[in-house]
Amino acid sequence: MTSLPSIAAYIESCCTSSAFKSEPSNLYEPLRYFMSLGGKRIRPALTVMAAEMFDIPKEESIHAALAIEFFHNFSLIHDDIMDEAPLRRGKSTVHEKWNTSVAILSGDALFIESYQSLIHYPDDRLPILLKRFNETAVEVCEGQQMDMDFENRTNVTVEQYLHMIRLKTSVLLGCALEFGAILGRQNEETCSLLYNLGVSLGLAFQIQDDILDLYADPLKFGKQVGGDVLANKKTMLLIEALSTNDNRVAELIAMSATEQKVEVAKKLFTDLGCLEIVKQKKEYFHKQADDAIETLEKSGKNTSELKKLAEFLLMRDV
Ligand code: IPE
Ligand code: IPE
Ligand code: MG
Ligand code: MG
Ligand code: MG
Repeated sequence: MTSLPSIAAYIESCCTSSAFKSEPSNLYEPLRYFMSLGGKRIRPALTVMAAEMFDIPKEESIHAALAIEFFHNFSLIHDDIMDEAPLRRGKSTVHEKWNTSVAILSGDALFIESYQSLIHYPDDRLPILLKRFNETAVEVCEGQQMDMDFENRTNVTVEQYLHMIRLKTSVLLGCALEFGAILGRQNEETCSLLYNLGVSLGLAFQIQDDILDLYADPLKFGKQVGGDVLANKKTMLLIEALSTNDNRVAELIAMSATEQKVEVAKKLFTDLGCLEIVKQKKEYFHKQADDAIETLEKSGKNTSELKKLAEFLLMRDV
């Protein structure tokens, strides 16, 4: 099996060598810019690794992997507009560097690149890949809308939060892994196993993302620290804090969006024990993912790379 660094290098070179056209430059330059900022490239790595488990070489799975990564990058360009985020991967977001109209349209063009990448597959694979891709893509939109709607609510439950992050984040990791099984012509049961593994990983991943949003080292993180608190995002940290009925949480929500609000939140969530509860929830989904990896291992698959990636994802500090 290909080792992690060599998969990573291969994926990186495929992501950045995409032949985007040059004119109009305000459409294509932002795409080149955004795709060249790197990122962890975990979703395409999941597709390539899963496909390899079923003896599909990376040269064949790369198109599905890129479709997922293009979609992910498109969703980030639009997410940054929605979240009014100034920074991504340590650099200016597209709407900050250009403007919102440019970010909307270049994001749209990147979304179309996903389909362009999928057309490489033969007639017996394309319909199922497209079906699962489209189901996933629309779910991401649903999750993103719920995330925005929740900003103005204070009665979001943990279950509603988990449903929202499953849609906005986890299903794409599920789809990334399932694509490997689909390319490997696996039966429905195996496709579901891979999908559910990705979803569990994605739930733990988004919970970690919420923790990092507040507690990451700003010098390493590459995104604005505290953005979720400033927007009153209903992260699991804030939901757990609200459930304590402590007056300080209502006061936090009412605070204007300043640096001080971020500092108050950091201390409050730790003092109320929310950070610990949320970390435990992350571990719960991590364990679910590990169990699914073990099932694959028992069926004779080499899961060592997948295990390493899962470990890295959940211990990450960026
Ligand atoms: C960011 O995803 C968006 C979330 C779903 C949390 P990543 O953390 O994978 O972003 P990059 O691609 O590595 O920058
Ligand atoms: C983004 O969630 C999920 C999608 C882009 C679909 P976040 O808004 O938490 O992601 P970051 O923190 O900006 O990367
Ligand atoms: Mg965001
Ligand atoms: Mg967002
Ligand atoms: Mg986030």
